[in-house]
Amino acid sequence: MSKTDNTMTRPDQAIILRTENLGRSFRSGHELLQVLSRINIEIPGGQLTMLKGRSGSGKTTLMNLLGALDRPSEGQVFFRDLDITALSDHRRDQLRRRDMGFVFQSVALIPTMNAFENVEFALRVAKPDGLDRRQRTEQVLQLVGLERRMRHRTQELSGGEQQRVAIARAIVHQPTVIFADEPTAELDTSMGLQVVQLFRTLVEKEGQTVVMTTHDPNMMELADQVFSLDDGVVQS
Ligand SMILES: Nc1ncnc2c1ncn2[C@@H]1O[C@H](COP(=O)(O)OP(=O)(O)OP(=O)(O)O)[C@@H](O)[C@H]1O
Ligand SMILES: [Mg+2]
Repeated sequence: MSKTDNTMTRPDQAIILRTENLGRSFRSGHELLQVLSRINIEIPGGQLTMLKGRSGSGKTTLMNLLGALDRPSEGQVFFRDLDITALSDHRRDQLRRRDMGFVFQSVALIPTMNAFENVEFALRVAKPDGLDRRQRTEQVLQLVGLERRMRHRTQELSGGEQQRVAIARAIVHQPTVIFADEPTAELDTSMGLQVVQLFRTLVEKEGQTVVMTTHDPNMMELADQVFSLDDGVVQS
């Protein structure tokens, strides 16, 4: 297992996600493709954790398991002390909706909606208690630096701005963890750095927990810890 620690874990940063001998294989015809084996990692709260590894090393597969989008072939994923692999689909959906936010490589905003509407729509779907929808939507768009772009539609925003709307959409319901799979892959280096810098701000100012995958060494410098995947195991 390869883990680079850029910071010390503070006592208030309890472990949010933990895997125990996690494995995932896929059957293709008669072949069994073992993509991940015996993954044992811990992700503390309030930190920016990155997963790196060459294409096909299993980063997306691991992130999908951590985010309860997929079920493992072996082992467990714990969210705090809860074994999420043992939960029903319904409970997993609930957990995802309440505690997790997702940002993908392709932004997938709703093109007919403006920035405000895209973010507010996510809040309607999540239905969190006690949040004023308008106020919270404006607050997160401000947080990602788009207070002057709220009424712009998708095609009137730059790639980096679109990704920031996607991040606003992922955090608007105040999830415990944000998962971002290659959120900078379609951006040039400077826009990519802006996006990761935004994650750093969320970690430092809001105590947000962020897990992201990346190929880009420039981005890794901004991580609190980096796990490196190679041949389905985390290298050390
Ligand atoms: N549903 C599936 N069925 C069969 N094989 C799969 C499936 N999902 C992923 N794989 C295989 O698992 C391996 C890891 O895929 P994964 O998408 O996790 O890689 P990655 O590290 O995210 O790569 P990239 O950097 O290209 O996004 C690949 O060889 C892929 O072909
Ligand atoms: Mg991937």
